[in-house]
Amino acid sequence: MRARIIGTGSCLPETVVTNDDLAKIMDTSDEWISSRTGIRERHLVKEETTAGMSAEAARRAMESAGVSAEEIDLLIVGTLSADHVTPSCACEVQARIGAVNAVAFDINAACAGFMFALNIANAYLQTGVYRTALILGAETLSKIMDWNDRSTCVLFGDGAGAAVVRAEEGTAGLLAFDQGSDGVKGGVLACRGRSNNNPLVETPKELSYVHMDGQEVYKFAVTAVPHSLQKTIQAAGLAVEDIDYFALHQANIRILQSVAKRLRVTEDKFPISLDHCGNISAASVPILLDEMNRKGMLKPGMKIALSGFGGGLTWASAVIEW
Ligand code: UT7
Repeated sequence: MRARIIGTGSCLPETVVTNDDLAKIMDTSDEWISSRTGIRERHLVKEETTAGMSAEAARRAMESAGVSAEEIDLLIVGTLSADHVTPSCACEVQARIGAVNAVAFDINAACAGFMFALNIANAYLQTGVYRTALILGAETLSKIMDWNDRSTCVLFGDGAGAAVVRAEEGTAGLLAFDQGSDGVKGGVLACRGRSNNNPLVETPKELSYVHMDGQEVYKFAVTAVPHSLQKTIQAAGLAVEDIDYFALHQANIRILQSVAKRLRVTEDKFPISLDHCGNISAASVPILLDEMNRKGMLKPGMKIALSGFGGGLTWASAVIEW
């Protein structure tokens, strides 16, 4: 029995903001952003919400899988930017799509959130607790950006990606997994600002914006990701050259190039969406996977390596047979 992705979907907000648009409102340039990151534009929400985009991505994934909302028995959203503290984004999605038989909850593993959701779903499906899972990565990062901090706000975008995962007999599905976290280094990518004002204590009000030490996160990514991928590929009984595509979290094209170099793989095996999406944290991997799927790039029997990495610090990789 394997946990197999049988359908994908995604949803981006309507409004596109180019690097030139940003250069009109802050001290930056298309030249700086595109040469340092590969990002040319991103989608930002106006009316859209994390739950609304998630529900649309979920509907598209269910349609592509040929699965009805009633068949979903597990619904997990990886997000750090849900619309509310409670109810969870997953419970809101459940209500919006009518997944009445699902148990629904969010997980926060930052940019590795979708990958953590995949692994949690895999554990439930492998043990027979549930049969059909809907997993998402969804973010409205623009609401937790400091729009006065040009070193961070230009990197991120909004959107949602989804996959339907089902327990199936056969060779296709999740072959191996690796995941980890390092809380000691958590300060290099943080969004703080939950002050306390109970009757006993009043902590200073902090603004709740993302703060990132880009260079430290960069160093972490180019070391942890190749290591995790190698470990996972080996655990799947495969060699690096057996992998058809590396669908990685879309943070920076230079990170993807560095991982390709370390693994001695050509860059054409690393599809990208960051040029038109920017970094959408937990949503990056499922949106990329959906784009690849809809372009017909994924054929039965192909081996795909997935990897997410970011705040926590967290990282997770998987090798799947399509
Ligand atoms: O999803 C979570 C994972 N996140 C990541 O993986 C992010 C990893 N880190 C990175 O991708 C890169 O570190 C960044 C893209 C964030 C930054 O690139 P960098 O090459 O490390 O640039 P830097 O921070 O060293 O800044 C270089 C210069 C600085 O100016 P000075 O001090 O050299 O005069 C910055 O002030 O670039 C300046 N700068 C900018 N200039 C124009 C910073 N941001 C901007 C900007 N536009 N938006």
